[in-house]
Amino acid sequence: PEELLFTYKGVLYPTTVCDAETLQALNTLEVRKDDVFLVVYPKCGTNWARQILNDLVSAASKNKLEVSPVEREQMLEFRVPEKFQKIKNLPSPRIFITHLHYDNIPKAVFEAKVKVLVVFRNPKDAAVSYYHFYNKNPSLPSFTSWDEFFQKFMSGEVCWSSYFDHALAWNEHMDEENIMIITYEEMKENLRGEVKQIADFLGFSLSEEMIQTIAENATFQSMSNKSQETHGKFAPVLFRKGDVGDWKNLFTEAQSQEVDAKFEECLAGTKLGTKLKY
Ligand code: PPS
Repeated sequence: PEELLFTYKGVLYPTTVCDAETLQALNTLEVRKDDVFLVVYPKCGTNWARQILNDLVSAASKNKLEVSPVEREQMLEFRVPEKFQKIKNLPSPRIFITHLHYDNIPKAVFEAKVKVLVVFRNPKDAAVSYYHFYNKNPSLPSFTSWDEFFQKFMSGEVCWSSYFDHALAWNEHMDEENIMIITYEEMKENLRGEVKQIADFLGFSLSEEMIQTIAENATFQSMSNKSQETHGKFAPVLFRKGDVGDWKNLFTEAQSQEVDAKFEECLAGTKLGTKLKY
């Protein structure tokens, strides 16, 4: 239904958490040099990387993990009362999390060369995760079939627009020193190594033990065990399976080929395309 979603500058957003005024006002965001941005297309590992970033920042500022983490993050495009005042009051380093397309992220972020961590996931698993999320989340429209959702995903008629447009845009910025792109699959394969890389990227020098602890806290098991506490009613939708390759349970051969063809067309031979190989 129309009222669950709205379109702003050609992109669909969920009405429960976003509005045009907030999106518009993002241009006025005053960036601090030590802000950290986490940019993730929906369902590609936002909450996972979010926890890792929070733990890293917390560990780096106190040299131990804070018992009750300091409130320092904000979903960039979400509607929050007194949003910009709250943002001003957040202690440094602030963490901004967003699903926005590169072009819709305030330019000041790139001008100030703040650190931007980008997480991608293979498009097939992202699509399957998104499908379940749409259907389990009452604030999003439901789809009667996977096939119907698949078509919307491929045409980019989903919230925050086309996966492929996001990937294409980031591919242009792979080599900028203030930008680091990692993948869900890399985190699955070597979580500790990725945590260490993120820490290095942010310029944090932490003990191996601390890196190990943060990685252990970020396994799917550990995060989903605590998810009732951390994410309340969204726990079951946000921590569903956490696997690589779940797409095989839903995709037809034709759909799989369609994604492969689109992937080839957009990203073949590019740096991001090679990194995202699945
Ligand atoms: S959202 O709604 O866009 O913010 O969702 P997002 O957090 O980006 O993605 C949700 C998917 O990430 C999986 N997840 C994890 N996988 C592995 N390890 C950890 N720690 C982890 N935490 C979350 C989550 O299960 C969703 O994927 P699916 O495939 O649906 O299980």
